[in-house]
Amino acid sequence: MSDNRPIGVFDSGIGGLTVVKELRELMPAEDIIYFGDTARTPYGSRPPAQILEFMHEILRFLQAQDVKMAVVACNTMTALGLDTTRKQYPFLMVGVNTGIRLSLSLTKNKRIGVIATQATIASGKHGKVAKEADPTATIFPVACPKFVPLVESGKLAGVEAEEAAHEYLRPLVEANVDTLILGCTHYPLLAPTIRKVMGANVTLVNPARETAVDACNLLKKHQRLTGKQQGATRLCFSADLERVKVLERCIFSGPQPEFELINLADYAK
Ligand code: DGL
Repeated sequence: MSDNRPIGVFDSGIGGLTVVKELRELMPAEDIIYFGDTARTPYGSRPPAQILEFMHEILRFLQAQDVKMAVVACNTMTALGLDTTRKQYPFLMVGVNTGIRLSLSLTKNKRIGVIATQATIASGKHGKVAKEADPTATIFPVACPKFVPLVESGKLAGVEAEEAAHEYLRPLVEANVDTLILGCTHYPLLAPTIRKVMGANVTLVNPARETAVDACNLLKKHQRLTGKQQGATRLCFSADLERVKVLERCIFSGPQPEFELINLADYAK
């Protein structure tokens, strides 16, 4: 059995494209519709109820696109809304993998840093998953509220990015973590700056690959992989298409996909 409908992928902005990259590599035959809420990014400093409300608005848009699965390519919405929304829509749903299991397989000293948005850190999700997987590991969570606005404005390197990285990451260097989870899908774009502060010996874990593998496994389990030969990607955003087109080039090479401006209000109930 096959299902040729698209996979929906979404985030508060451009960060989720780091997950799209892995999905495309793993499942090149699948069609993908991406939505980034560039009009309202960042989400991570907003109250949980508002994040959930925004998530429903995006899910209604994806429902109108008749997706077979939604990949929540945002740690913040995964931590705050996946359990609540999962049963309310007629498609499969998968969130960002925490990266905890991969980190536990890589760490030597069992001291693992997690950097993420304020909302993700406040949810305590990574700590809970780690405790279940290996109670002897120590998790060091740090919220980095300046990182998403830096990425969205294209400041991936330079003085501002480095100052923010020093401010957030010094305590993790001092805590002697040997593994650092990039717990926000925007952060892989800051990896060179993060690497500068953390040093060459710390392993940076980007859970995007694991997320793509989880998505693929879920489709396989439900026999919903496509029967097509080659997939297409449609990139939808709620604002600033010109800015987004420039940032997209930091993630993908090759021909630029189709971009579309979407007004979520058109899909409200
Ligand atoms: N990429 C989102 C995440 O993974 C960022 C959320 C935000 O907009 O603050 O959490």
